[in-house]
Amino acid sequence: MTNTSNTTSDAVTAASAAFEAEFGRAADGVWSAPGRVNLIGEHTDYNEGFVLPFAIDRRTWAALGLRQDARARVTSTFSPEHVEIELRDVSPESLDSWSAYPLGIAWALGENGVDLDSKPGFDVHIHSDVPVGAGLSSSAAIECAVAVALDDSWQLGLDRPTLAKVGQLAENKAVGAPTGIMDQSASLLGRRDSAVFLDCRTLRSDVIDLGFAAADLQIVVIDTKVSHSHATGGYAARRASCEAGAAALGVESLRDVAVDDLDRARGLMDDETFRRVRHVVTENARVLATVRALRESGPLAIGELLDESHVSMRDDFEISVPELDLAVVTAREAGAIGARMTGGGFGGAAIALTPSHLVGAVTARVTDAFAAAGFTAPEVFVVTPSDGAKREL
Ligand code: GLA
Repeated sequence: MTNTSNTTSDAVTAASAAFEAEFGRAADGVWSAPGRVNLIGEHTDYNEGFVLPFAIDRRTWAALGLRQDARARVTSTFSPEHVEIELRDVSPESLDSWSAYPLGIAWALGENGVDLDSKPGFDVHIHSDVPVGAGLSSSAAIECAVAVALDDSWQLGLDRPTLAKVGQLAENKAVGAPTGIMDQSASLLGRRDSAVFLDCRTLRSDVIDLGFAAADLQIVVIDTKVSHSHATGGYAARRASCEAGAAALGVESLRDVAVDDLDRARGLMDDETFRRVRHVVTENARVLATVRALRESGPLAIGELLDESHVSMRDDFEISVPELDLAVVTAREAGAIGARMTGGGFGGAAIALTPSHLVGAVTARVTDAFAAAGFTAPEVFVVTPSDGAKREL
């Protein structure tokens, strides 16, 4: 078993040592932010609906020190690239590669009313153990670690929902991925043993006790290694279909459509758009049902909702891939009580809610099934619902 507290303090030490090696002085502090798993509520965030993600025990650490001048310098343990730029020159046009995530935050804070001309520059070193491309929001983890680091260092006093919007703006404009508000909200608002129930219209959130430990359940992540990018292709197409469906129904967003409206909706749009709409509308209902089940009965009662969510994403929203479907089916056969793909889709990871004593069996069966199908070996690991972004040092 990994000792999380040791791992965390090792990472904090590593991040500050790397900062010193890169910049020749001690950092002012180290901040961290987690990746996330979405328990349920997929492609509902940009439809102003409901989501239920949780922060995981895989984090990104940002060691940051303010400067005397107005330059920003960024380094990381995962890329040899060193980026250096005047704060006033930071803009979506001037940023590319991975530095668009941390520097995009500085730009987005400026868009949010922070007077960048009056702020000192900074050096920041980023260190992360959130797997990249697995659908666990490694990008939101970088954004949120830098967002809390700058919020503290520049003494901005912004609240977490505002920082989530800043992160989303950086992702949308600086990185160029038309994503919603879920990932940054989970990373900033997560709590140990809990999920974040977020209303993406009002941005009101509630912490929901997951009770996994008491029920002897674990969340197994199956990273299919099929890579996805939300800056291109399918994700934007799904968003466009949802907007078309809302327009056909004469509503501002699909949040305003109830399951009972679906019969009427069928006649107002083509079949493909209808199925996209049906996924979002039923998924919103499943999030509410999951929250109710967790509150009233505990996590053993949510398996079927996870399964239904996967079927809806596979058949109606069409964002699954054969590797995700195999992961889900095999995990269920090996004893998981519910399983679904998580995140934006077209690759990435599936999650399986699994009795603790069956984690080994699920891991072995899924690994064997991938080998038999000729798929790339998956990476299978357990994640624990953890605290959101915070100052570490
Ligand atoms: C990605 C996006 C999120 C959300 C999910 C799908 O993770 O970043 O905003 O839309 O896909 O639920």
